[in-house]
Amino acid sequence: MSGWWWRCMFLLIGATILVVEPVSGVFPLKTSSRWIVNQNGVRVKLACVNWVSHLDAVVAEGLSKKPVDAISNIIKSMGFNCVRLTWPIHLLTNQSLSSLTVRQSFQNHGLLDTIAGFQSNNPSIIDLSLIQAFQAVVKSLGDNNVMVILDNHVTQPGWCCTNTDGNGFFGDQYFDPSLWITGLTKMATLFNGVPTVVAMSLRNELRGPKQDVNNWYRYMVQGAEAVHAANPNVLVILSGLNFDTDLSFIRNRAVSLTFNEKLVYEAHHYGFTDGRDWVSKNPNEVCGKVTRYMKKLSGYLVDQGWPLIMSEFGGDLRGTNVNDNRFLNCFIAYAADQDLDWALWTLAGSYYINQGVFGVEEVYGILNSDWTKPRNPTFLQRLASLQLPFRGPGITQGKPYKLIYHPLTGLCVARKSKLQPLKLNACSYSNGWNYKPQKTLSIYRSHYCIQAMNQGKPAIISKSCSTWDMISDSTLHLSTNINNGTNVCLDVDHNNVIVTNACKCLSNDSTCDPASQWFKLIDSGKR
Ligand SMILES: *[C@@H]1O[C@H](CO)[C@@H](O)[C@H](O)[C@H]1NC(C)=O
Ligand SMILES: *[C@@H]1O[C@H](CO)[C@@H](O)[C@H](O)[C@H]1NC(C)=O
Ligand SMILES: *[C@@H]1O[C@H](CO)[C@@H](O)[C@H](O)[C@H]1NC(C)=O
Repeated sequence: MSGWWWRCMFLLIGATILVVEPVSGVFPLKTSSRWIVNQNGVRVKLACVNWVSHLDAVVAEGLSKKPVDAISNIIKSMGFNCVRLTWPIHLLTNQSLSSLTVRQSFQNHGLLDTIAGFQSNNPSIIDLSLIQAFQAVVKSLGDNNVMVILDNHVTQPGWCCTNTDGNGFFGDQYFDPSLWITGLTKMATLFNGVPTVVAMSLRNELRGPKQDVNNWYRYMVQGAEAVHAANPNVLVILSGLNFDTDLSFIRNRAVSLTFNEKLVYEAHHYGFTDGRDWVSKNPNEVCGKVTRYMKKLSGYLVDQGWPLIMSEFGGDLRGTNVNDNRFLNCFIAYAADQDLDWALWTLAGSYYINQGVFGVEEVYGILNSDWTKPRNPTFLQRLASLQLPFRGPGITQGKPYKLIYHPLTGLCVARKSKLQPLKLNACSYSNGWNYKPQKTLSIYRSHYCIQAMNQGKPAIISKSCSTWDMISDSTLHLSTNINNGTNVCLDVDHNNVIVTNACKCLSNDSTCDPASQWFKLIDSGKR
C-alpha cells in the first residue's frame, strides 16, 4: 500500500468523522414545548413515511423488489428523514413466530415468487429470523440517516383496522394489556442503544366498542412508563380514540408521567374519514369544517405545548380520486400552517400479501408497484416544502415573516427579480411577506406590495397596495376589490404566474374545485 493510499484513507476517515460528529450530538431527541428538538435544542421536524412491516409475513414490504439499502436510500432521496415502521406485538411475544426465518414465513403463506425475488435482492436477510430481519431494516435506515419510529400497529400480524377486528382497544379479543406491555418492553429493550430509533408509538388507532377514556389513561400511562423504563431515549407517542382522530379529552386532563420532555401525541386523518363529503359538498365548506374539527380534536395540543405528529394521512396518488384530491389540498394547507410533524401513508407500492391477495398494488404508495420510482413525482415535489420546518427553535433568524403558500402545488408566491412577474416558486427560495393590520401584503422590509390589476391579469408589485381578505369558510381565498368594484381572488395561471380571477365556488357548489385559489399565510422567517 502506498503512502498516497493511506493519506487518502485518512482524508476519507476525517471526512466521515466530520459528517458523523454533528449527528452524535443530535440524539436522543426530546421535546421543548410543542417542538421536537435535538440535544442542541434545535428543532427536528419529523417528515416520515410509513413502512409496513406488520402484515401476514411480518417482513418489511418491498424487499423482494429492491435491496434494503436501495429502499432506505430512495426514502432519503425522496426527502423523508424518518420512517414509521409498523410491527405486531406477536413479533416480540410469540417465540415461534419471531424465530421463523423470512424464507419460512413466506413459505407458510405460499409466497414462492416472493422468495425468489427476496433471494436475489436481499440474500443476506432471507435466512435471518423475522426479528433479525426487522433489526436489519432498522440498521439500514440508520446507516442512511433515516430516523425510525417503531409503531405497534396490531397484536397479531395482518391488515388494520376495523371496529370489530379484536385489536381495537384494551380488553378486545386480541388486545391483552399485559401482553401488550410485554411486547412494548421487549421492543424498547431491543433498540436501546440504537440512536436512530428516536420514538415508539404505543398503539395504532385505538377504536371500537370497548374504547373508554379512563382505560385510555390507565393503560397508555402504563405503556409509556414501561417503554421509558426499558429505553429512556425514545420519544413516547400516544394515539387517540376513534381511529386516532380524537384526543380532545387531553384538553382538561393532562397525562401524568414520571418523566419529562419525551411525550408526543399522534393523530390521523384521511379523505374517507369524512365519508364522501369532499365530493358531495362544497370544498370550501368541508375544508373549513374539517380544519375546525381537527383543531378541536387534536390540533389544539400544540397550543397547549405538546408536539403533535399527523402520523397517517394520504390518498390515492394516481390522482383520480376526487375525494382524496380535495382532502389533500385542504390537509396540506393545515399541516403547513400548523407546521406539524407528519408521516405519510405509505411507502409500499405493493404488498407481498394483503388480505389474501398476492402482490396487491397499493395506490396510496409513494413508490410504484415495482418499487423502482415514485408513483407520482408531482406529489413528491409538492411534499418537499412540507418536509422542511417553517419555524421553531433554531430554524429561523431575524424577524418572523409570512410565506404565501399554495397547497395545490406546495410552492410559494415569490418575486425572483424586479423584471419578472410574481410567480410560484420553491418555498425555500421565496421572499418573505408582511400581512399588515391594514391587510396589505408587502415584501418583507419594503414598501412594495401586491396590487391586483384586472380580472384575468397578473397581480403586480407596486407601491399602491390592494387590501386582501381571507374569505370563504376555508379562509383560504385571498380576495380584494379591483377598481370597478369587482371582487377577485388571487389565482395561478398555467405558467404559475400569480393572477386575479373571479373567486371560485366560495359556497354551495360541490362540482367545482377552488384549490388553484387556495393560499395560506404561513409563519416563517429567514431559514
Ligand atoms: C405464534 O406464531 C406461530 C407461527 O406463526 C403461530 O402458528 C401461532 O398460532 C402463534 N401463536 C399465537 C398465540 O398467536
Ligand atoms: C369590472 O371589470 C371586469 C373585467 O375586468 C368585468 O368582467 C366586470 O364585469 C366589471 N364589473 C363592473 C361592476 O363593472
Ligand atoms: C347557498 O345555499 C343556501 C341554502 O340553499 C342559500 O341560503 C345561500 O344563499 C346560498 N349561498 C350562495 C352564495 O349561493
